[in-house]
Amino acid sequence: MLILGGTGDAVALAARTAAIPEIEVITSLAGRTRQPLVSSQNTRIGGFGGVAGLVEYLRDQQIDRVIDATHPFAAKISFNAAAAALEVGIPHLMVIRPAWQPIPGDRWIEVESNAAAATRLPNLAQRIFLTIGRQELSTFAYLRDLWFLMRMIDPPQPDVPVPPGKLLLERGPFSLDQERSLLHQYQIEAIVSKNSGGDATYAKIIAARELGLPVIMVQRPAMPPGEQVNTLEAALAWIEQIGS
Ligand SMILES: NC(=O)c1ccc[n+]([C@@H]2O[C@H](COP(=O)([O-])OP(=O)(O)OC[C@H]3O[C@@H](n4cnc5c(N)ncnc54)[C@H](OP(=O)(O)O)[C@@H]3O)[C@@H](O)[C@H]2O)c1
Repeated sequence: MLILGGTGDAVALAARTAAIPEIEVITSLAGRTRQPLVSSQNTRIGGFGGVAGLVEYLRDQQIDRVIDATHPFAAKISFNAAAAALEVGIPHLMVIRPAWQPIPGDRWIEVESNAAAATRLPNLAQRIFLTIGRQELSTFAYLRDLWFLMRMIDPPQPDVPVPPGKLLLERGPFSLDQERSLLHQYQIEAIVSKNSGGDATYAKIIAARELGLPVIMVQRPAMPPGEQVNTLEAALAWIEQIGS
């Protein structure tokens, strides 16, 4: 079984699958973070080379099922995986954690992309907590009159333009106390976040609600059609059912 990873869910799923007899698991990572979290299972790192490369890999390794447990914003690999599994003719499942939903007290501005988020900022706030990771920092680099607190795991490449502000190199999960004190310490007036879902990075949304701060919430990209579940338990049930 191939688990496409890069998330805490994939690590947990690989660990839990290890307990199922007669299933051999390989977890695949893109190689974006320098010190990725891995489970004790076999891990391979790096792109496959598009759909064709993934098809070749699935055949070479005699993979007979694929679980896509990548991040909800990693759309390209999800489309590639769906296409490759179809071509090889093996079962394929997407594990997609539910998106966060606004509740009373939230001041969300929902936008379709980071580029759209950037256009909303100048009229909204001066000091912004930018929590979109490092891959799309350059989208905000033209906003030279604003100040950004930018949190990510690894620093951006030196040649990538970044907006003015401070880099904070940290890996979640983050507690509510941590997030509250960060917002106070840096006098943050607005947050930009992807709608990643899950608990690990939700505390900033609660902290923003408490302080009445606006959150520009970037909506998820479309995912390919196919079988989906949104919990690890449901994924494990699928694995057991397919295996029987
Ligand atoms: N995007 C986010 O916000 C985000 C946040 C947290 C974690 N992540 C994790 O970081 C990884 C990269 O995210 P992304 O948004 O750059 O993905 P992406 O745009 O969907 O994928 C870009 C390319 O990276 C390679 N790739 C992606 N995930 C891979 C995996 N698990 N194993 C092997 N190759 C992979 C593939 O290269 P080839 O075409 O050469 O096969 C893919 O075409 C994902 O695994 C994701 O789970 C992403």
